[in-house]
Amino acid sequence: MMLHTTQRLSQRMMEPRRRLSDRDLPASALAAHAELVARIRARMAQQQGRISYAEYVEMALFEIGVGYYDSGQVQFGDKGDFVTAPEISPLFSRCLAHNAIAVLQHLGGGSVLEFGAGAGTMAGEILLEMERQACVPKNYFIVERSTKLRIRQQTNITAHAPHLVHRVQWLDNAPDDFSGAVFANELLDAFPVQRVRLHRDAPAQEFYVVWDEKDAGFAWALDEIDDPVARTLAAQIPLDWTQCAHTHYDTEVHVAAYHWLRELAARVASGAIMLIDYGYPRSEYYLPERDEGTIVCYFQHQAHDNPLVLTGIQDLTAHVEFSTLAEAAQEYGLDVAGFTTQGHFLLSSGLEDMVGDVIKTSARDFLPIIQQIKRLVMPTGMGEMFKVLGLTKHYTGPLPGFRINNRLDRL
Ligand SMILES: C[S@@+](CC[C@H](N)C(=O)[O-])C[C@H]1O[C@@H](n2cnc3c(N)ncnc32)[C@H](O)[C@@H]1O
Repeated sequence: MMLHTTQRLSQRMMEPRRRLSDRDLPASALAAHAELVARIRARMAQQQGRISYAEYVEMALFEIGVGYYDSGQVQFGDKGDFVTAPEISPLFSRCLAHNAIAVLQHLGGGSVLEFGAGAGTMAGEILLEMERQACVPKNYFIVERSTKLRIRQQTNITAHAPHLVHRVQWLDNAPDDFSGAVFANELLDAFPVQRVRLHRDAPAQEFYVVWDEKDAGFAWALDEIDDPVARTLAAQIPLDWTQCAHTHYDTEVHVAAYHWLRELAARVASGAIMLIDYGYPRSEYYLPERDEGTIVCYFQHQAHDNPLVLTGIQDLTAHVEFSTLAEAAQEYGLDVAGFTTQGHFLLSSGLEDMVGDVIKTSARDFLPIIQQIKRLVMPTGMGEMFKVLGLTKHYTGPLPGFRINNRLDRL
């Protein structure tokens, strides 16, 4: 197949790739990076010299033993590359637990299912809170792709909730006929996306990843969109060209997320699914000024927009587009029950009362706790950028997190 223009993204927040070996990175990380680059190039060689960006992300994050999430490096927390809500404060997980309790009480029992459990912090905390409220789930299932992270989760939960770890089961897929509450915090932003270029006067194209011999690094190449679903999704993006600065517009479509949701919907018999992630409804996602898309990479707490460097060493993400996700959910037989910001979801789940209780028992920790809460709920922190989408199946019971400010109209 013919490759067309090659384009590099700006590297404004990142040192150029050629300085990678100068960095203060452990030799094991550099060796894993080199091995991963070799494997990606071998895959390219089998496919006329290129792979889709989705395939590149898949390998960069999950290639066995060398991908970002499978190489054993520390991703979460101060020593890693980013901090997620469960790592900021246990109150985040306790709020989720209160939603799980509402679901299980309404169903008369059931289990919790968590996708992409990271360090395992949220699982341990949800279990402990459910125990405090006398509503321990039958099972706490974790579907986690990374074998290294599964081990870390087991160690972490064993350390923090040793008497409850026997409830936890690690699975490759959601169990059939699942009944209960499903959570995925910052899962969907880690899913591979197709990076596409829309043209005002021509069919959309897809960005592929190629190897640039001259620069000895990965580079972009544009060609026709391969995947028919991605092609349809790209054609449906409602862009207001009159407001766009250029005759082209770069963005992403999220085919893998829809496949994942379809499979999950088929396996859930009854209950509620709560998806928490950063992103926007369609009308805000495809804003004319967002013409370089939403891909963000994280390396040692710096965010930048070049996924083609530090392969396997940095996290690769894209924002979630919640409107198409909600429409897909309905197509797969789910009901869309709620859509709100993380800030409203937590406050609506009883966060204020929980803060009061914690402060009563540990007045000394007042200031750090208030700082953590601010990060979780304030628009300047995660409160506004992170959203919660609530999907249900054969469930009409309460979902406390959507009690106030349920903004389904924004989808
Ligand atoms: C950004 S981390 C979030 C971790 C955790 N939920 C948190 O909030 O700290 C993404 C997690 O999703 C996992 N993951 C990514 N894709 C997955 C998939 N298709 N199935 C299961 N887990 C996946 C990663 O291995 C990792 O544990």
